[in-house]
Amino acid sequence: MKRDQALAIVKEQLTEKRYVHTIGVADTAVKLAERYGANVEKAELAGIFHDYAKFRPKEEMRQIIVEQQMAKELLSFHHELWHAPVGAYLVQKEAGIQDKEVLSAILYHTTGRAQMTKLEKIVFLADYIEPGRKFPGVDDVRQIAKKDLDEAVVAALRNTINFLMSKNATIYPDTVYAYNDLVQKKILEE
Ligand SMILES: [Fe+2]
Ligand SMILES: [Fe+2]
Repeated sequence: MKRDQALAIVKEQLTEKRYVHTIGVADTAVKLAERYGANVEKAELAGIFHDYAKFRPKEEMRQIIVEQQMAKELLSFHHELWHAPVGAYLVQKEAGIQDKEVLSAILYHTTGRAQMTKLEKIVFLADYIEPGRKFPGVDDVRQIAKKDLDEAVVAALRNTINFLMSKNATIYPDTVYAYNDLVQKKILEE
């Protein structure tokens, strides 16, 4: 699918602010894919569609999670996490995106997981560092992203986990698995 066509489809699903964020994620994902040798077209497509389900009603998302037998534990975590797996399902169904790598990059863009693919890491990171993002620590992650993909993903995961803990919020298991997996790999390399 061409960029313009994909953007036209997501524009209808998003607010103006979220659409601007989406373009930031797609452009950042392209740069990361070029830098780290991933498929640029897939990175762009996953970036464009990553927040496709962001504004679906909570009840619709809950129903899809149940009917499609997605991870049951999702429902006991904040509904902010739901748009990622629901989005991966809906872009397949409604926009005809069939590419498994693109779909899994959408699916894991919020939580991460153990054994992330390169494309999953790129979309996860692009969502975190796109130019419109302004939160403490984001500039550090942007700098690390220029040098080392895994280190940048770990830094983003660490910030996310620290932030959630400081708010007394729960942490989705896949986020911890993603963190442990990449930190353990780093230790084994040393
Ligand atoms: Fe998202
Ligand atoms: Fe996003």
